[in-house]
Amino acid sequence: MTDSRQPGMRAAILTGSGGPEVLAVREAPRPSPTTGEVLVRVRTSALNRADLLQRAGRYPAPPGAPADIGGIEFAGEVESLGAQVTGWGPGDRVFAICGGGAHAEYVVAPASTLVRIPEGMPWDEAGAIPEAFITAHDALRTQAGLVSGEVVVVHAVASGVGLATTQLAHAFGARVFGTTRTAAKLALAREFGMHDGWVVSGDFAELRERLAAFSNGPGADVTIDLLGGPYVAASIEGAALKGRIVLVGAIAGSQASLDVRRVLSRRLTLRGTVLRSRSTAEKAAASRAFADEVVPLIAAGRVRANIDRTFDLADIADAHRWVESNAGAGKVVIRVS
Ligand SMILES: NC(=O)c1ccc[n+]([C@@H]2O[C@H](COP(=O)([O-])OP(=O)(O)OC[C@H]3O[C@@H](n4cnc5c(N)ncnc54)[C@H](OP(=O)(O)O)[C@@H]3O)[C@@H](O)[C@H]2O)c1
Repeated sequence: MTDSRQPGMRAAILTGSGGPEVLAVREAPRPSPTTGEVLVRVRTSALNRADLLQRAGRYPAPPGAPADIGGIEFAGEVESLGAQVTGWGPGDRVFAICGGGAHAEYVVAPASTLVRIPEGMPWDEAGAIPEAFITAHDALRTQAGLVSGEVVVVHAVASGVGLATTQLAHAFGARVFGTTRTAAKLALAREFGMHDGWVVSGDFAELRERLAAFSNGPGADVTIDLLGGPYVAASIEGAALKGRIVLVGAIAGSQASLDVRRVLSRRLTLRGTVLRSRSTAEKAAASRAFADEVVPLIAAGRVRANIDRTFDLADIADAHRWVESNAGAGKVVIRVS
């Protein structure tokens, strides 16, 4: 029960572990910013696979994040500042990634992780940006060192992160090849800058041939694998000499077999990455890199939010069901206040 002396807020509370029915939107205590933190009034957030896993009891909140409120990204207005915070003031429009707690009217976040929202950007769009674009930018540039002219493969090309990766790779001068299990999603990905793609048939030998043709021989310089499972071996098969493969997700399976000889002879780099559990300093560094290189592209209209659907916080259980169905393409936004 909420303490009557403490200000409250509406939040999507995880009342246990299980299906979407464990979510209950109700009053909860409002968090307070400590030293170096900012209290943000959340306008929009978005739903991520991490939220689904946390709800199912398979991905506990990282240290410092609330155990019973999901939401790993937000867009909103600065409400108040903790001690020793400079550079931000009440009313500033900010977006950021966080360890959790953003499916609520208020969230606290380290000031160092906040990024200013481009002027005039609507809240729905702002809420769809941080997790997808910081993940995509970090994977492409910081982890894989993508440079102009390279060939990039994106598995699950029409997912939230997939469309952000496609847009950024295109903006950085790469040629993008995407995969999806759903033919209609290839057409959508083309609108976001994908040059060519393949509807997954189960026979990954075909993918290798398609990639060889797409790259005029050598294969992919950079692969952003959002799926794991059998896609890991396919990524290795399709990689060019000194190709960099970034493992970002495991929806298709957390076990994979790989051809060690091919990894050696092709001198491949396989790297895993995760944002949610990174330290504050690491999240701040990824956010600064995003602010420096991606936000100007957003402000200039060269890349944009890829919104699939929007749900009110009150309907967050339906939003979970929708993401779980895999029917959508792009980001599912949660309107909070
Ligand atoms: N490491 C990190 O920090 C980080 C950050 C954000 C996201 N992620 C991960 O990145 C991945 C993508 O996230 P997202 O938010 O972009 O996803 P999303 O928007 O929910 O889309 C995921 C898509 O993957 C495809 N898919 C689902 N199950 C599949 C399976 N078993 N085999 C093949 N394809 C499957 C579906 O599209 P089709 O129609 O093509 O099947 C689905 O629409 C997730 O694994 C997520 O956990 C990681």
